[in-house]
Amino acid sequence: MALPGTCFEAMSTYFDFDGRVVLVTGGARGIGYSLSEFFSAAGATVAIADADPHALANAASELPDAIPLEIDVSDATAVRAGVVDVLQRVARIDVVVNNAGILRDRVVWKLTDQEWQDVLNVHLNGTFNLTREVVPIMRKQNYGRIINVTSFSGLHGNIGQANYAAAKAGIIGFTRTTAKELARFGITVNAVSPNAETDMVASIPDDKRSELQSQIPVGRFSSPDEVGPGVAFLASEQAAYITGVVLPIDGGLSI
Ligand SMILES: NC(=O)c1ccc[n+]([C@@H]2O[C@H](COP(=O)([O-])OP(=O)(O)OC[C@H]3O[C@@H](n4cnc5c(N)ncnc54)[C@H](O)[C@@H]3O)[C@@H](O)[C@H]2O)c1
Repeated sequence: MALPGTCFEAMSTYFDFDGRVVLVTGGARGIGYSLSEFFSAAGATVAIADADPHALANAASELPDAIPLEIDVSDATAVRAGVVDVLQRVARIDVVVNNAGILRDRVVWKLTDQEWQDVLNVHLNGTFNLTREVVPIMRKQNYGRIINVTSFSGLHGNIGQANYAAAKAGIIGFTRTTAKELARFGITVNAVSPNAETDMVASIPDDKRSELQSQIPVGRFSSPDEVGPGVAFLASEQAAYITGVVLPIDGGLSI
């Protein structure tokens, strides 16, 4: 059912996720929240997995039909429990968006072990933890769509982001490998590389953010809402023959 009065109303007529179950990690804020809204508007039951209980409570009050899951994606046991919870409630998982993320930016010679590990744990281990849990379910369904969120840094590198770039580049390798492993089971695995005006971008120092913005051909960061259509396309039934790609949703930044 479309959310009246939102920009998603018209789009949800193109993207029909009625009866589908979509799990979005980091789904309580930023791009993830916008995806949760988008898929809800397009008829899906959305499970919102997030480590921030306050953001999760807010998201759940905005989207009362969604399933809130307080999960740290780097904790494999918690991820397993969350997937079991969703299965018990709605018996299937059609789409997973591995979106949860953090930044701990610092030039490589100053990076602490903790900053290195935290970023790898959330982005790369989190993507692995959830993918490993949902693949057996998707294999039984003979249907699944996995969309991993990577970044310009993972494709091209970025000063101060050795940890983040390594994690995001790892996600691209993980996407391509799992795409090959899972194609024969009706499961596609793709990645998107967005840029969007979120808390994460707001946390970048002003001078660096302006410099980055000046490199975007469209001339601005996107709104988080502009990421949904690209993700929904890859998550749609119609995209069955597209797997292993990295779709930039970045205003031309990666050209
Ligand atoms: N915003 C951008 O321009 C941009 C650019 C490239 C890639 N990305 C990627 O997009 C994704 C979303 O970024 P965003 O800008 O919306 O960030 P954000 O900080 O606005 O939101 C991230 C969400 O992830 C959640 N989260 C953090 N750690 C978690 C964990 N361990 N387990 C579960 N949830 C956790 C947070 O609570 C938050 O709700 C990230 O993977 C990020 O790397 C963003």
